[in-house]
Amino acid sequence: MSSKEKAVLVTGGAGYIGSHMVLTLLEAGYAVVVLDNLANASQESLRRVAKLAGTAPEFVEGDIRDRQCLDALFAQYAISHVLHFAGLKAVGESVAEPLRYYENNVFGTLTLCQAMATAGVYRLVFSSSATVYGNGQPLPIHEGLPTGRPTNPYGTSKLMVENMLQDLARADERWSIALLRYFNPVGAHASGRIGEDPNGKPNNLVPFIAQVAVGRREALSVFGNDYPTPDGTGVRDYIHVLDLVEGHLAAMNVLVSRSGASVWNLGTGRGYSVLDMVQAFEHASGQPVPYRVEPRREGDIAECWADPARAYQELGWQASRGLDDMLADTWRWQLANPEGYAGPNKPAH
Ligand code: NAD
Ligand code: WQD
Repeated sequence: MSSKEKAVLVTGGAGYIGSHMVLTLLEAGYAVVVLDNLANASQESLRRVAKLAGTAPEFVEGDIRDRQCLDALFAQYAISHVLHFAGLKAVGESVAEPLRYYENNVFGTLTLCQAMATAGVYRLVFSSSATVYGNGQPLPIHEGLPTGRPTNPYGTSKLMVENMLQDLARADERWSIALLRYFNPVGAHASGRIGEDPNGKPNNLVPFIAQVAVGRREALSVFGNDYPTPDGTGVRDYIHVLDLVEGHLAAMNVLVSRSGASVWNLGTGRGYSVLDMVQAFEHASGQPVPYRVEPRREGDIAECWADPARAYQELGWQASRGLDDMLADTWRWQLANPEGYAGPNKPAH
């Protein structure tokens, strides 16, 4: 990449959502720089992205908390937008190690913004989460609702960053910031070459079901069947990761002619229960998914789905892939990579 060519910086670009974002950007003709400290990723994801795209992103192994590293990166590349995925995301871990989460997610984002301002880069897309709405919201959840009280430090870190970015945009009109509140991202690229590769026991439903179907785990624990939902199990708005990253492309385009901080939900507007997901996965994979019902998981809400109208009206974006695609793509990735990126014959990072 020539030093004058405008590029998009993707922090956390080696991770699950980031790697799909990088592929989509390369396919759309953008030059891409990835910054990732590989805390929860392998560079193998980016090698595969490069093969799929026929062109590679620039890769900087580094940390968003490292100001010197950021300054050197912004001096080397002409960055037009920052898509900021880097952060820690395990809810249970955040309860046990809150300072690590606040340092990575809050201090890391603060440092990134300082470096951006020094470099004169003011367009930022932030990976927020529906968790900032907290409990007890009327459904579907729209962006006009006040944010609530997240039930864990991970969620609080997302809300703190949102508040910080709102303040920043209010203080200086050069900033143009998208706060994208993701519902439940699932699925993988249709090639089966990149996907979600959780460390150890998956916290999230779909990766767990996939590992049961492929025989890595014996049975799914269904966390509660006594919620006030149609079948008693929790209901969520699952969204295909490719729809999600396409929402970022749409936001990037809109930021060019917008100032301030804007909030958009990225969801489908449809909810599915845990048992719906089990059944749909059995159908997509042709494998049984045994499960047992266990007590509710602390901090879980009964149901949650998005009102995606604002993203449609303002970004011209809506999710187009249905549950069958989400789960067929998850299964293709899981079957081809039963051990994720760390399987046999695959280079370690
Ligand atoms: P992920 O863990 O796969 O990706 C995050 C990436 O950031 C990893 O590659 C990791 O190595 C990197 N990273 C972490 N700390 C870093 C640091 N200090 N400096 C540089 N790199 C660092 O997670 P993901 O699922 O791809 O999530 C991406 C973003 O979206 C995160 O901010 C997450 O909180 C947010 N989000 C995810 C979900 C979800 O369900 N996956 C839902 C809502 C929001
Ligand atoms: C979905 C449903 C569980 C696992 C979490 C974070 C949120 C966001 C996305 C990042 C719920 C049930 C789950 C299992 C189960 N992350 N379940 N057995 O809880 O909506 O959101 O991930 O921002 O912040 O809180 O997603 O996939 O963990 O759970 O029965 O082994 O599946 O109770 O109803 P959740 P999830």
